[in-house]
Amino acid sequence: MEKYVIKGGQRLEGEVTIAGAKNAALGILAAAVLTDEECIIENVPYVQDTRVLLAAIENMGARVKYIDRHTVSINAGVIEDGEHLVVDDDNIRKIRAGYYLLGSLLGKYKYANVALPGGCDIGARPIDQHTKGFEALGANWEIVKGGNIVVQADSLTGNHIYMDVVTVGATINIMLAAVLASGKTTIENAAKEPHIVDVANFLNSMGANIKGAGTDVIRIRGVERLKGTEYSIIPDQIEAGTFMTMAAATGGNILIKNVIPKHLEAISSKLNEIGAHVIEYDDSVRVMSDGRLKSTHIKTLPYPGFPTDMQPQMAVTLALSKGTSVITESIFENRFKYVSELARMGARISVEGNTAIITGVEGYTGAGLVAPDLRAGAALVIAALSADGFSTVEDIKYILRGYEDFDGKIRALGGAIEVVDSEREEQKFRLRVG
Ligand code: EPZ
Repeated sequence: MEKYVIKGGQRLEGEVTIAGAKNAALGILAAAVLTDEECIIENVPYVQDTRVLLAAIENMGARVKYIDRHTVSINAGVIEDGEHLVVDDDNIRKIRAGYYLLGSLLGKYKYANVALPGGCDIGARPIDQHTKGFEALGANWEIVKGGNIVVQADSLTGNHIYMDVVTVGATINIMLAAVLASGKTTIENAAKEPHIVDVANFLNSMGANIKGAGTDVIRIRGVERLKGTEYSIIPDQIEAGTFMTMAAATGGNILIKNVIPKHLEAISSKLNEIGAHVIEYDDSVRVMSDGRLKSTHIKTLPYPGFPTDMQPQMAVTLALSKGTSVITESIFENRFKYVSELARMGARISVEGNTAIITGVEGYTGAGLVAPDLRAGAALVIAALSADGFSTVEDIKYILRGYEDFDGKIRALGGAIEVVDSEREEQKFRLRVG
């Protein structure tokens, strides 16, 4: 089984270029199915989740072609019998974003039959707001034998939908279903994340009529048909934030390129508050730290609040900061699973309900670690890079879901990390880096 082996203690320095946003890409790839014409999508991150979704779209009968590593062409016009498609394979069951095919297939064919979503085990993750939205548009749904969800409608008609919780997934899914519905749809209490805006911009470039994405009221006027388009996905806010905290935690100096600094404000302001130094440029940010950091309090919130997807990486940084910090996780109830791993490195964190109380320590010591999910896995890598001595991180399959060439980018910054597949490779690494 592949794992990372890491020797900590280097200040990470240099430049890193951020890939396209995974969570925008997943919505956009699914949206491309809504037209019978070709869509060319650039800046698609080459990560496991996008590859699994693309494979599912190809299995549906669409023509999917990688023009280069980050540019994908999708032509769903060649899908046959779209009204009876069943989307199911072992891989699609493991990711979350398969559920976007519910919205796009329902929108286009008025019938979607898709394996129930998987994804990181960070909480209960219900989909009641998705189904509530589909129902409001005139669809009915049921869970069928084998664990698929089937959503269908004779026709879809726009409606007024109030979301009971702010949800990224349901906001995108309802947009996908509503763009071809007849009449007007209003989504109130919509999520405002940058990737919502990106999916809406993509749909509008296909000829959809969506207004207000990025605010909490999204208005959609249904159109008859959508056309092909060429589109470039925004940079990944969370990959950028991960390298920002990596700079802070290792006392490093990293120029993080190809970002939209505005999307990083919640992260930048917390890093500045704890004593790291963030400088914003037009499309890059530099994070510098002398390693002497202070404590703070953080509560995860929907955008523009502090992102839940940055909570573990920030916790790893705060656990090395002077004083007591408090993190409240208000989005997912099971997002502190990395705490027991960090404890073995010497971190002092106690969790009560959705709150982690962190008492800063001077440093971590290397340990054998297991990634519990995507972001927590990345956070453990940051901890290992800051630690004294060697660490290993197992279950890197979670990290590969969402970070492109994570180890390569870290090596380019001077970090000692390698993917190894055997005891022998691990020993070779240990001997080489001493
Ligand atoms: C998306 O998950 C992201 N996944 C997650 O990223 C991210 O953590 C999350 O949004 C929040 O930003 C993808 O984009 C594929 P939600 P999603 O619907 O859509 C509750 C990562 O690391 N809720 O915004 O599943 C839910 O339980 C991943 O990249 C309902 O109650 O998140 C949660 O408490 C992990 N009913 C809150 O809303 C619903 O029908 C927000 O969830 C839907 C959600």
